[in-house]
Amino acid sequence: MKKQFFLVLTAVALGVVFIFALAYATQQAPDTITMESKLFSKHKKSLVTLSHKKHNVDYKIGCADCHHVYKDGKNVWKEGDAVQKCDACHTEAKAPKAKEGEPKLSKAEKIKKYYYSAIHENCVACHKDLKKKDKTKVVPTKCAECHPKKK
Ligand code: HEC
Ligand code: HEC
Ligand code: HEC
Ligand code: HEC
Repeated sequence: MKKQFFLVLTAVALGVVFIFALAYATQQAPDTITMESKLFSKHKKSLVTLSHKKHNVDYKIGCADCHHVYKDGKNVWKEGDAVQKCDACHTEAKAPKAKEGEPKLSKAEKIKKYYYSAIHENCVACHKDLKKKDKTKVVPTKCAECHPKKK
């Protein structure tokens, strides 16, 4: 009786491992992503759609330029590894304004904690760099270029 129970338990455990392995193996990079983080109870701005595949294939940006897992200050994420949503680690919505007399958070501290800072640093900083290098580049850097007015 005991042995049978153990066998069933082993089978169930193996099944669970198998399903997780499958989920990781089939995690696909989507072509486009309309970003709508649950951290914002309400979106004040219009939603932004990232041309995920274009950024990688046409604009030749490596996965690891956007996806990371830091270990001892180094990005150890590599293609094939599971991808977590940005807000799984940048877990707070937006930094509150520092009160009078209180020390301000550094830019790095804000980025590490707050999704709002992390996502804008990722998208906008790269676009601004591109524009700096080539003024004729058409890339969204201003608020309304990514968040056109809501109708
Ligand atoms: C390159 C594109 C881009 C630019 C430029 C940009 N944003 Fe965003 N913004 C995003 C993305 C992507 C998100 C994440 C949305 C999500 O996941 O819900 C976001 C989120 C937000 C949010 C939180 C969600 C909401 O709707 O309330 C606010 C507020 C916001 N942006 C304001 C701004 C402001 C203000 C500017 C200009 C100073 C700006 N953004 C410039 C891409 C951009
Ligand atoms: C320009 C930046 C950028 C590049 C380049 C990029 N990604 Fe992404 N990727 C994102 C963003 C942003 C998301 C949405 C994350 C979120 O919703 O929090 C995402 C989402 C994903 C997801 C889905 C995650 C989920 O759970 O929803 C996978 C898988 C993924 N990327 C894999 C890849 C792979 C593989 C490559 C390279 C072939 C790649 N990405 C290149 C920015 C990028
Ligand atoms: C597994 C956790 C984790 C995930 C998932 C994650 N981040 Fe980060 N991210 C961090 C940590 C930790 C740091 C701080 C690194 C440091 O300063 O040592 C960081 C730093 C950053 C930085 C500043 C440094 C740099 O690499 O440019 C940006 C911008 C950023 N993240 C954006 C994003 C975006 C956009 C996504 C989703 C596509 C994302 N992060 C997903 C943990 C994560
Ligand atoms: C490492 C650089 C880099 C990062 C990071 C990046 N982009 Fe871009 N983005 C580009 C380049 C390059 C172009 C194309 C410029 C051109 O047309 O030559 C572009 C174009 C765009 C465009 C206009 C054309 C299109 O394909 O839709 C949008 C919108 C855009 N990016 C949104 C985003 C958002 C949202 C994020 C963050 C989640 C992001 N980008 C992160 C480099 C980047």
